[in-house]
Amino acid sequence: MIDTFRSSVSFRSVELDPVERRLRGAVNVEDLRRIAKRRLPRGVFDYIDGAADDERSLANNSDAFAHYSFRPNVLRDVSDIDVSTTLLGRRIQMPLVLAPTGYTRLTHSAGELSVARAAARAGVPYSLSTMGTRTIEEVAEVCDGPKWFQVYTWKDRGLVKELVERSAAAGYEALWLTVDTAVLGSRERDTRRGFTVPPQIGPGTIVDGIVHPAWTWDFIRSEPIDFANVRHVPSTVDRSNMGRGAYVMQNFDQRLSWTDVEWLQSIWDGPIVLKGIQTVDDAERAVAVGVQGIGLSNHGGRQLDDAPAPIDLVEPVAQAVQGRAAIICDGGVRRGSDIVKAIALGADACSIGRPYLYGAGAAGERGVDHVLDFFRNGLRRTMALCGRTRIADLDRTLVERR
Ligand SMILES: Cc1cc2nc3c(=O)[nH]c(=O)nc-3n(C[C@H](O)[C@H](O)[C@H](O)COP(=O)(O)O)c2cc1C
Repeated sequence: MIDTFRSSVSFRSVELDPVERRLRGAVNVEDLRRIAKRRLPRGVFDYIDGAADDERSLANNSDAFAHYSFRPNVLRDVSDIDVSTTLLGRRIQMPLVLAPTGYTRLTHSAGELSVARAAARAGVPYSLSTMGTRTIEEVAEVCDGPKWFQVYTWKDRGLVKELVERSAAAGYEALWLTVDTAVLGSRERDTRRGFTVPPQIGPGTIVDGIVHPAWTWDFIRSEPIDFANVRHVPSTVDRSNMGRGAYVMQNFDQRLSWTDVEWLQSIWDGPIVLKGIQTVDDAERAVAVGVQGIGLSNHGGRQLDDAPAPIDLVEPVAQAVQGRAAIICDGGVRRGSDIVKAIALGADACSIGRPYLYGAGAAGERGVDHVLDFFRNGLRRTMALCGRTRIADLDRTLVERR
């Protein structure tokens, strides 16, 4: 009997490392989201997870991928799959970019540095947000992979120019110019909870912190959080972080227009990607002004509700642009198969925000590695099941709209 038992089962080794144990059970982005929800204070989780108004853009960004199905080919040799590609003239290990997220360190004390290190290990670009909690230089020190910087255009153009020059000096290769934030979207979860960036402490926050001790312990032992790149800006509000945050938020330039894109081109030699393009005519205009990249994005649903899902824009924009600019599909990408669909429809790469924040919130730097492994494995597996071995083989014949 013992022999029969021995021959039919084997014992799984007991995992002593709690982080590994946690990650073992997380087989997709949604699992990591659930773990992050358990571990993070509710205000922090909602800051990451939430979106504008009724959050229909957020839901639709992901749901829209299900409108496309594959036309897989079989009996092709798929023993040698290569998911590397070229984006903006640079070889990268898969067509994925880590999108900029402000206040990344709220998820985990290692924040931007851990995400940048994980991106470098995976050979994909890391994007630092202007609203990041680590400086341009600090990130460059730990990340020898491709780095992009994201700029908001403020009324204070001197400050923008300074950040652009610092990015160039620190070896950043491309700029995202975010163009969908003339005003901030109404993130109702944040308003309801009284959540601000940086957080203000009230009785609710204290209780939230007490019932999430692992996060709170990590947070209180780490260096104070601030908007690291604008630390030196004299605030008109007050001299605290909060004041600087408010200053930066209030100084988004609502007069931002196409001539400002030309201004940015005049102070930056490398590629510029416009982040937040949501129509074919704006994509055509972007090509006409000579930017190198089009970020099809609605800010992960955090700005305008009922905005078009980026994946639905890929094909019409690719047809209009005809290869004159790289197309990045940003928003709702949750699986490697989503990347395959976007590339087949005409994108050059996808970018992700929340998935790596959930990874960091669930398990710090290792959680981000886990997310990147998950996307790479899903990409490879989908390509194998579709009979494709190279990113260049992912063409329009591979997907159809249901
Ligand atoms: C918590 C959070 C903070 C963000 N901060 C910024 C930012 O500072 N600048 C920016 O251009 N986009 C920002 N974004 C938008 C992301 O760059 C990206 O467009 C979006 O997350 C993509 O959607 P996804 O989360 O479904 O992947 C943020 C998104 C999240 C979730």
